[in-house]
Amino acid sequence: MDNLMEKIVSLCKRRGFVYPGSEIYGGLANTWDYGPLGTELKNNIKQLWWKKFVQGKDDMVGIDTALIMNPKVWEASGHLTAGFADELVECRKCHKRFRQDQLENLGFSEIEEQLKRKGTINISVVMKSQGNEFRKKWRRCECGEIIEESPKKFNLMMKTFIGPAEETANIAFFRPETAQGMFVNFKNVLDTARKQIPFGIAQIGKAFRNEITPGNFIFRLREFEMMEIEYFIEEKDWKKHFEYWRKQMVDWIKELGVNVKKIHEIEIPEAERAHYSKRTIDFEYEFPFGQKELYGLAYRTDFDLKNHEKFSGQNLKYKDPETGEEFTPHVIEPTWGVDRSVLVILLEAYSEEKDRVVLKIPPKLAPYKAAVFPLLANKPQLVKLARKIYDDLRQKFYVDWDDRGNIGKRYYSQDEIGTPWCITVDFKSLEDETATIRDRDTMKQERVRIKDLSKVIKEKLKE
Ligand code: GAP
Repeated sequence: MDNLMEKIVSLCKRRGFVYPGSEIYGGLANTWDYGPLGTELKNNIKQLWWKKFVQGKDDMVGIDTALIMNPKVWEASGHLTAGFADELVECRKCHKRFRQDQLENLGFSEIEEQLKRKGTINISVVMKSQGNEFRKKWRRCECGEIIEESPKKFNLMMKTFIGPAEETANIAFFRPETAQGMFVNFKNVLDTARKQIPFGIAQIGKAFRNEITPGNFIFRLREFEMMEIEYFIEEKDWKKHFEYWRKQMVDWIKELGVNVKKIHEIEIPEAERAHYSKRTIDFEYEFPFGQKELYGLAYRTDFDLKNHEKFSGQNLKYKDPETGEEFTPHVIEPTWGVDRSVLVILLEAYSEEKDRVVLKIPPKLAPYKAAVFPLLANKPQLVKLARKIYDDLRQKFYVDWDDRGNIGKRYYSQDEIGTPWCITVDFKSLEDETATIRDRDTMKQERVRIKDLSKVIKEKLKE
């Protein structure tokens, strides 16, 4: 569909899913705030995930750890070294930094002409010194300056200070992944949760990265939410567990209503893998702006626990209760971005039909499960009965109320925010205690006994 991203960004703002961040101050580039419906959708995703992967599994526990951790954590994890960095080109004039592919590539004659015009560099000397002129690449910065392509590594950690004094001793970092909270608490969880290997620790929470190229709405953010699992295993079993979690991730993608044909499992070659990973699969999705990572699955080996042992001096080994053997567990890490989940659900759900826009969000994830209307807002008996239904249903599901305009407009409005069922109280309802329930996707209506409404919705939610 043409302009799908623009349509989604506009719908999100108009209907209260996602607003531009700090808007009344002219915004802050690439920050976004979730509105009432976006918050519901995001919470529904997180709750579904927690139910499926934490409460639904005997071998899982969930925790919730601090965003700011002892800076030694990041030394141990490798995030403060070159391992967690982007290769960037810096403009010597405006000092902006770019990924190479973000900048316009310049041909030799253009560089020569521009540099001559500036009168700053003897171009022939520069180019000859390279042996082959055309092998060296030059690019133009946004500010107009010509940049020689010599990328350097820039760390992605978000720095802050603890306490009032902004000095080196007080430097701290916002976590770039939730994973480390689970590694540093491995021993605490072992001692308190009575789990035996294999078992997993899960967490949902915010992460921060000083991304150089944020953008594409909520796709790449500097502040985002992740749902992560660190699954602790014996080394010899890693392939089996890796395959298990791969399948679990595919299952999850299907639950979001995503067309699996648009998902591509990409085996990441060694040179491109994160510093801790011995095997990584990225689940890429065909976004309108290109095929990009949606989720990831990594075999982190014993890299993190071993390093935390080394840096903290604590014993983080697991003792097999039967054999008494001590060993450092290995880890399989499936990881999911919450914001990318929201985006992919919206992209898959958005559809335009003859005279309506419909968000075909899976009902269990939809912000409202139902909306209740009196057919006519100026008929007190209809309003009274509809209000009673609304109040009853609200005890069990998140339900909307609408008595504005005509019924067609209300359906349109609910379709656009993905409400799966609309319940209308009409004059027949007053006689036979039934109401109509209209399906978002088929637009078909059926009459249901008012006392059965909540049971019917519950059943439909299971489908
Ligand atoms: N602990 C492993 C880890 O952090 P990652 O691939 O860097 O792995 C995990 O991030 C997931 O978080 C990604 O698959 C993606 O869904 C999401 N993610 C990563 N960077 C993001 C960003 N800048 N904005 C939004 N989501 C992001």
